[in-house]
Amino acid sequence: MVTNIEEGIAGEPYHDYTWPDVQMNTGYKMPPVALGTFRLREKTYETIKLALKLGYKLFDTAESYSGETRLMDFEISVLVLVLVLVHAFIPEEHCGPYDKTCKSSPWICWRALEELQLKGLIRSIGVSNIDSDTLKFLVGHFSKSSVSVVQNWFDPFHQDRAVRETCQEKNIIYMGYSTLGTLWMEIEGGYDVNPVLERKDVVESAMYSLLPTTSAVLRWAISRNVVVIPSTTTEDHLQKNLETRKQNADSYSSQLIDSLDGLLGDPEKED
Ligand SMILES: NC(=O)c1ccc[n+]([C@@H]2O[C@H](COP(=O)([O-])OP(=O)(O)OC[C@H]3O[C@@H](n4cnc5c(N)ncnc54)[C@H](OP(=O)(O)O)[C@@H]3O)[C@@H](O)[C@H]2O)c1
Repeated sequence: MVTNIEEGIAGEPYHDYTWPDVQMNTGYKMPPVALGTFRLREKTYETIKLALKLGYKLFDTAESYSGETRLMDFEISVLVLVLVLVHAFIPEEHCGPYDKTCKSSPWICWRALEELQLKGLIRSIGVSNIDSDTLKFLVGHFSKSSVSVVQNWFDPFHQDRAVRETCQEKNIIYMGYSTLGTLWMEIEGGYDVNPVLERKDVVESAMYSLLPTTSAVLRWAISRNVVVIPSTTTEDHLQKNLETRKQNADSYSSQLIDSLDGLLGDPEKED
């Protein structure tokens, strides 16, 4: 039985291996593959229903995606929320962590989540869209609770290494969004075709591992300790994405994708 990525054999994608659940610093666990619900729109209810049938156990929702309310349609009696994130931890310049004149800021949101966690209404709390300096400050100086999860943009060309290193140091689970590259077509002046799925190097890695490109990318991400949350509305894609949990990564393909980081520049650092 293959037990770690170094033991994966290049060109042989299927092994008797299942990436285990990851454990948060609160002790609770989550699977390494979840369903993102952004983009599901009018298909949200049917897709979540199908995903539950296929074995998905974790769903990424936000008030603005409508998935949150549609999840309630399953009559899940929500007594305790498993994980809640501050969606955009992008501090405004005029609104510092201790600024009492501010009516709303990620810092205020964080304190509110801490209170709900103390009351036992939320198990784990985390943040999204955060940079590494802000994360270090939050963890080292501001937060009274554990930051359990960071959810940021992560794909082969945008590997967010500084934040991931901080997460590793501080025992925080890193969750990647838009891992299949969709964001490159949506940023200002973005690409006409999705570079993650079309670039020769990614495709080559996928061919080498005999997997569809999407599976090769997701499997690579999981092997790099990233929880993935791809969104899709089709049964075939739901199934394929979930199966990546059972695909060990070989070091050749993984290193090939590792080497793509930054090749398209960093839109978050450009004016
Ligand atoms: N925190 C944040 O600010 C933030 C921002 C963006 C996203 N997110 C979360 O992250 C999730 C994922 O990000 P995303 O939706 O931007 O992008 P993504 O998951 O990288 O890409 C989604 C696209 O990939 C296609 N796809 C999925 N699986 C596929 C497969 N096996 N084969 C071929 N195509 C496939 C889907 O089309 P089909 O439907 O045709 O399969 C969809 O168009 C979102 O749903 C959301 O929950 C969070």
